Amino acid sequence: MTSKDNSKAALIDSLNGLLADTFALYVKTKNFHWHVRGPQFHDLHLLFDAQAAEVFGLTDLIAERVRKLGGTTLTSIGAIGAKATIKDEDDTSLDAMAMVKALFDDNTAYVATLKATKELAGEAGDNATDGVIDDWTDQAEQRAWFLREIIA
Ligand SMILES: [Fe+2]
Repeated sequence: MTSKDNSKAALIDSLNGLLADTFALYVKTKNFHWHVRGPQFHDLHLLFDAQAAEVFGLTDLIAERVRKLGGTTLTSIGAIGAKATIKDEDDTSLDAMAMVKALFDDNTAYVATLKATKELAGEAGDNATDGVIDDWTDQAEQRAWFLREIIA
């Protein structure tokens, strides 16, 4: 393989990891939308739903970037689980603020993954991925900001 092929393969792998984390973050945010309780229920229930919808909206865009690059992408829940770095949270009695904190941490980590993927897009000379990741990063930073201001 040429170094160009290597950098493209690394980018495809990174995009598939990003896609797995996007699905994981979507389900986790929706999980908190369903299970949150306490005095801030109404606001958090709505915020988590809006954030989950935004995250879900990225999944098709990321998967289709992989296909446009000639790679294959994720095929199943199993494939998502094998590649995701965002941790499951199966404790339905988690405190509302602990949910906000967990999603803040996850969205902050997600920003770091986006930046690493952008770096690889640059190395692979993939201008389209390089450019579109800026929008995805701005969205993730906005989610992290909204969550951070609740914790403060
Ligand atoms: Fe709902």
